[in-house]
Formats: sequence, structure tokens, C-alpha cells
Amino acid sequence: MKRLTEFDAIELADPGFSRAVIDWQRAHGRHALPWQNTREAYRIWLSEIMLQQTQVTAVLGYYARFLERFPTVVALAEAPVEDVMAYWAGLGYYTRARNLHACARRVVAEYGGVFPSDPALLADLPGIGRSTAAAISAFSSGTRAAILDGNVKRVFARVFGVDQYPGLKPVEDALWRRAEALLPLEEGIESYTQGLMDLGATLCTRSRPDCARCPLQERCVAYATGRTAELPIRKPKKATPEKRAQMLVMIDRGQVLLEQRPATGIWGGLLSLPEVDGHVALDEDSEELDLGAAAEAAEKFGVVEETEALLPMEHGFTHYKLHIHPYRIGLASRAETPAGYVWWDLSSIDAAALPSPIKKLLGQLGQPSLFS
Ligand code: ADE
Ligand code: SF4
Repeated sequence: MKRLTEFDAIELADPGFSRAVIDWQRAHGRHALPWQNTREAYRIWLSEIMLQQTQVTAVLGYYARFLERFPTVVALAEAPVEDVMAYWAGLGYYTRARNLHACARRVVAEYGGVFPSDPALLADLPGIGRSTAAAISAFSSGTRAAILDGNVKRVFARVFGVDQYPGLKPVEDALWRRAEALLPLEEGIESYTQGLMDLGATLCTRSRPDCARCPLQERCVAYATGRTAELPIRKPKKATPEKRAQMLVMIDRGQVLLEQRPATGIWGGLLSLPEVDGHVALDEDSEELDLGAAAEAAEKFGVVEETEALLPMEHGFTHYKLHIHPYRIGLASRAETPAGYVWWDLSSIDAAALPSPIKKLLGQLGQPSLFS
């Protein structure tokens, strides 16, 4: 990883940035949240963990009840984990609660019940990442450390016009370098840190940011170029894989042969057309029509008289796109029906539990009498 050099820091530095955030926070930010106006690391830590994946309004009640039951890190460490879980119930992301309890026990065992102030030591504790460690340290000790949570990433991506997905490691690394370089040089790390959080939560919101009131408007690339709706770049979608299934359409004396699919997996528990080799990854080899393979697969159901490729169709699953290649197989005579298969009357095909593309395919074959 590239280390931040003095040269980079000077390139990225902008004293006006932190000044604007601090002044705005002091005039327009949030000042009466229950975890503000204290330097008690326990209370700050608890709030930051609760706020990691939960909105302020949802946290307020839990925070008050939790502190009443566990007023100190020692009280929390001494409590059974079941009690902690009970007071967390409803907040979601329960790994946070288990980590919270484990963290309290380590703070008591390793630090005599006093949270360390060094962000690097904090970040070594369960449930505390780099950004949360910086926030706890800034709020409880005034440490000059950079935060970069989801909200701050959004603000930075817009202000600096970052036109790559911020979830990519090199893009995230570059944002961390920015975050470090933009820290206020003298005083005000608490207002600055809170200000970035407040901006992301109240003005620079995911949708329809309130740029008119924003202290960063004059230096915001997204605002200047009308791209607040496009930035930050969303996670690129993976190309959907494509698969192919060769299916046997065997119609004989007004009946069609159906296969019972296994209870789990694609189309679990439904009936479907028998397949030659399942849903296989589509490559150059499998794009070729293979009438021979279809006829061979059909042989266990009877004496094959004719084989005809029907028009292929496509079906989209959430995880892949399936190209269905149907083959009409004409039988001279039926063999004994193997277990897991059933000859189904076409006149009552609507009653069969079939996947919709198979229903559609059978429907497109037209009048059953044509094949009987
Ligand atoms: N989200 C994360 N930390 C926060 C804080 N200290 N105040 C408000 N929202 C937050
Ligand atoms: Fe966000 Fe708008 Fe402010 Fe830019 S000007 S940082 S988009 S609120």
C-alpha cells in the first residue's frame, strides 16, 4: 500500500474545508444528543456501536435503557451475555451486541476498566473498526484522528467528484488519505468529526441532498457538475452468468412426460420437463444443438421415433440467465415409467405445479391434439 507522503498531504490539504465544517457544526449541527457533551469513553463507545448500523431516532430509547441497566463498562463486563442480548433485542445486527460484551470484558481485563485513548489500541478491540476507533478517540480525548464511515464516504465522493465505486480498495485507500489530510490542524477535532457525521445525516443525504444549505457547496464537484444523483458511484453489478438446459418434450397419446424436481434448489419441489444434463454453464461447446444427446437421454422412456429441435427460450433467475433448448421427442412406444417421472394429461396441464417458463413453453406448443 502506498504510504501518505508529506507531498501528498500538502496536495490534498485544504484548511478551508475543516474550517467550513467546524463553523457549520457549531452553528447548525446537532448538540443535544445524549452521547454528546461528555468525555466518558464508555458512553461514547456505546453510542458509536449502536449508531454503526442504526439511525439516531431508533437508538435513543435503547441507549437510555442500556445505560440504566449497565451504567459502567465494569457492570457490562460482569453481566451475563444473555442480559446484554435482551437489552439489544430489536436493534438488529446482533454481532454488535456479542462484540460489545467481549469488548467490555477486554477493557476490564486488559485496561483496568479504562478505555485506551490511542485509536490503534481501540481498533484492536472487538467490534471497533478504524473509523469507530477514531470517532471514540476524538470525542473522548480530542485525538486528531480521521473517520470514514458510510456517510462520510458519500460526502467525500460528492465533494471531490470521486467517479469510482468507493467500495473498491484503492478508492477507499485514497479516501482515507483525503480524510487524514483534511483534518483540522489546530483545534476543533470534536466539532469537525461531529460536523462530518451531521452533514452526511442531515444535508448530504443519499437522495435529494440539501445543497442550498451546505457549507461545502462552493467546493463541491458533484454540485458544480449536477451529479449529486450519480455520486457516489453505486456498486457495479456482476454480469449475470448464463446457463443452458436441454429439455425433453415428450408427448404421447395426449400426455406429456414430467419429472419431479428435488425438494431443494432451482424449482425445488416442482414438476418440470426432463433435462438432458441439468443447468450447465454456457460456453461455446454447449451452444451447439445436440439432437443425438437428446435422443439418447430419451431412450430410457421408450423407443424414440423422431427428434426435433424446438425454438429456444430464455428465463431470468436472480443468479443466472437460463437458455432453454427444448427438443420434441416422438416415441414409437413407452418404456416402464422410471421413478420420479409422471405422464401427465395435457388436458389438465394447468393443474401441474410447473415453473412459469415451462408452462409457457408447453402453452406455445399449441393444441395438444396436434401431437397426440
Ligand atoms: N453516527 C455515528 N456517530 C454519530 C454521532 N456521534 N452522532 C450522531 N450520529 C452518529
Ligand atoms: Fe453534499 Fe450538496 Fe453539500 Fe455537495 S453541496 S456536499 S452534494 S450537500
